[in-house]
Amino acid sequence: VFSAVELAPRDPILGLNEAYAADRRETKVNLGVGVYTDDQGRIPLLRSVAEAEQARVAARAARGYLPIDGIAAYDAAVQKLLFGADSALVAEGRAVTVQALGGTGALKLGADFLKRLDPSAHVAISDPSWENHRALFEAAGFAVDTYRYYDAASHGVDFAGMLADLRGYAAGTVVVLHACCHNPTGVDLDDAQWAQVVDVLRERQLVPFLDIAYQGFGESIEADATAVRRVAASGLPFLVASSFSKSFSLYGERVGALTLVTASSDEAKRVLSQVKRVIRTNYSNPPTHGGTVVATVLNDATLRAQWESELGEMRDRIRAMRDGLVERLKANGAQGDFEFVRQQRGMFSYSGLTSAQVDRLRDEFGIYAVSTGRICVAALRSSNLDMVAKAIATVSAN
Ligand code: LMR
Repeated sequence: VFSAVELAPRDPILGLNEAYAADRRETKVNLGVGVYTDDQGRIPLLRSVAEAEQARVAARAARGYLPIDGIAAYDAAVQKLLFGADSALVAEGRAVTVQALGGTGALKLGADFLKRLDPSAHVAISDPSWENHRALFEAAGFAVDTYRYYDAASHGVDFAGMLADLRGYAAGTVVVLHACCHNPTGVDLDDAQWAQVVDVLRERQLVPFLDIAYQGFGESIEADATAVRRVAASGLPFLVASSFSKSFSLYGERVGALTLVTASSDEAKRVLSQVKRVIRTNYSNPPTHGGTVVATVLNDATLRAQWESELGEMRDRIRAMRDGLVERLKANGAQGDFEFVRQQRGMFSYSGLTSAQVDRLRDEFGIYAVSTGRICVAALRSSNLDMVAKAIATVSAN
């Protein structure tokens, strides 16, 4: 049965972890995967999370099966983060949320469900997008197109191109949108641009599928929900994949959620019943730990305030690393103007480095980045900024 199986290539992002782990150089730096580290290079255990965990361990909680759609208090808290505390669509029962295995798990649940509803629909992702978007939607059986997004010349958005591409799609096309902190470019739409995008989505009857994995890393929890709230106000049915891997520093717990916004509470019930079948036939029901911890933090005023302040600390440190990198690049005589790195939001910088330059960074300096030139600025440290800037200056010099 296995004799003809071919060796698959390494994953373009997680595969870097494997290569990094095998690298013996003490000065190696992992700027590949999107993981935040503190200034000592550690993945933090947030104090709010640690408190919620301690309470859970002390309570000696039983580990029975969760409901198929997960913890009710978790699902409700996710909706509040997305739509705000006084959302009309939540009050009307038009949104349903299921706990999912991280943002990736949420996207895959949504993809599998959409495929059943409209097998011939196409999916459109931004150019460029998170590497796994294309792979995931293709694995669910979709043809995946790209809409124009990043403009390398301006380090901004090719907004006219984006709108033109969206206008060209057939009704029912699923449009994957990064709600904030675009991965990999770090370049977001502003509020006025979102309003125009939403107009086109509505005119063309497209199906928005928002991916929100970095809520709180751009400006704030509320400000980073702008896109979600604009789409919510459009009256369109849509989907949202949430991830708390980064915002709670709970990467390995696989804490995410899929939210589906429907036309009525009756439709919502029917949709939920079908999404539960997708879950049941995949992994039955979600794990208890991460979801309980996140629900505890989000539903307790003190822990919630603590979490927001810890999220703010992470956001501020990333900004400081952006500033530090730009300054060190200048100081080390790097070719070109890297000011754009300061304007980008979230964990990543689309550095403009070519794949050959990324190879040199790895081979000559032990610095790992994605071959597209994406670097995770959230994993930089004060102590290695200079070394990284020097290396970038060297490989971009010729
Ligand atoms: C990333 O883009 O590096 C993260 O979202 C981690 C992943 O799963 O790829």
